[in-house]
Amino acid sequence: MENITELITNIINDDTIIKAVFSGVRNKSEKTFTKVTIKKVIIKNEEKYQFEYFYDKNVEHKNLNKSETIDEMCYLTQTYFKQIVINTIQSDYQILVSKKGVAKVHKKAATRKFEAPTHNKKKKYILNEGELSPFLIELGIMTPQGKIVNAKYDKFKQINRYLELVSDCIPYLDKNKTIRIIDFGCGKAYLTFALYDYLVLKMGYNVEIVGLDLKENVISFCSDLAKKLKFEDLRFEQGDIKGFDQFTNVDMVISLHACNTATDEALAKAVNWGAKVILAVPCCQHEFLKKIKNEKMIPMMKYGIIKEKLASLLTDSVRANVLEIMGYRTQVLEFIDMEHTPKNIMIRAFFDDNSNIEKVKKEYEEFKSEWNVKPYIEEAFGKSLTDKLNK
Ligand SMILES: C[S@@+](CC[C@H](N)C(=O)[O-])C[C@H]1O[C@@H](n2cnc3c(N)ncnc32)[C@H](O)[C@@H]1O
Repeated sequence: MENITELITNIINDDTIIKAVFSGVRNKSEKTFTKVTIKKVIIKNEEKYQFEYFYDKNVEHKNLNKSETIDEMCYLTQTYFKQIVINTIQSDYQILVSKKGVAKVHKKAATRKFEAPTHNKKKKYILNEGELSPFLIELGIMTPQGKIVNAKYDKFKQINRYLELVSDCIPYLDKNKTIRIIDFGCGKAYLTFALYDYLVLKMGYNVEIVGLDLKENVISFCSDLAKKLKFEDLRFEQGDIKGFDQFTNVDMVISLHACNTATDEALAKAVNWGAKVILAVPCCQHEFLKKIKNEKMIPMMKYGIIKEKLASLLTDSVRANVLEIMGYRTQVLEFIDMEHTPKNIMIRAFFDDNSNIEKVKKEYEEFKSEWNVKPYIEEAFGKSLTDKLNK
């Protein structure tokens, strides 16, 4: 194998490697990974060789410098694999190793073009660790040095996912005017602050954002924080969604994890105000659980947990369909992975041309009679929905 060691050393020292693939495990009883590939990458401005180890169900990576790469390539060739293909700028090498460990090298004309090594960058999110964000620091998610607090990592991911979903709504918001947004059931307002930071500080929009919540203590906390952060066009008010009648028109309505039928109240306000964008993540839905009846579905409904999940899905289906009937292009999306929160369905709706209304209306009526329900959302919407349904 001496000539192999020399060949690998020269290829790496001359910096001519483009790619290498190791395959065919020699001794199956020792099998852990089944294939290894190598390519060059740039990490923190330094050139490295990235080894990718393919296992049955996962892939692992190691980034090595030149001398470590020579050692690892020699080790894999001498002890582990039967076939090694190394593509360099000048030639391709195929190394075949017999059961007894005898290696033969075949040299051929180069078949791969040189490609500049890729930057091994992490995906860029709207908010990033290391980029100081005063609101995240104040909310205890980021340290003043820019590190995400371990225990708050899920929250940080949720905020970024939320902003990603908001960023798709930008084409519906008119930059030439003040965008009025209301966040119903804002709670401690992590997402409301994130929205303000994104739209005003990052995107340069003029906004008027109101966060509404039933709880006096959270409103007082959020109002103080908005003042401290100098988020001048963000204010918080205490109140019930149902009774909120300060505005007659709003551009965007958000309601995340507001409990039970509070989501229906939020959707009704949004639509009746002519909001162009609606984002809602429903939570603890009890309404349908008590109401639904369907003889054919007894095999599902006799199990409490299944019935509960079924009732939630039916409620969200009704909400999404009602928004379609009211002329919205409606999407139902995963808000965040199930492992982070069970409340993961987002209803996102844009006021758009919806030519499908008659078909959806018919399907909606049939669906209601199949499940024997009169959804509360119809009461929340009132005349606007009744008129549409009876037209
Ligand atoms: C689970 S928290 C969610 C907070 C925040 N939206 C989030 O997703 O991080 C739900 C909030 O909705 C508020 N809420 C529930 N029903 C409401 C209603 N009818 N009117 C106003 N706020 C309500 C609660 O007080 C609570 O703070």
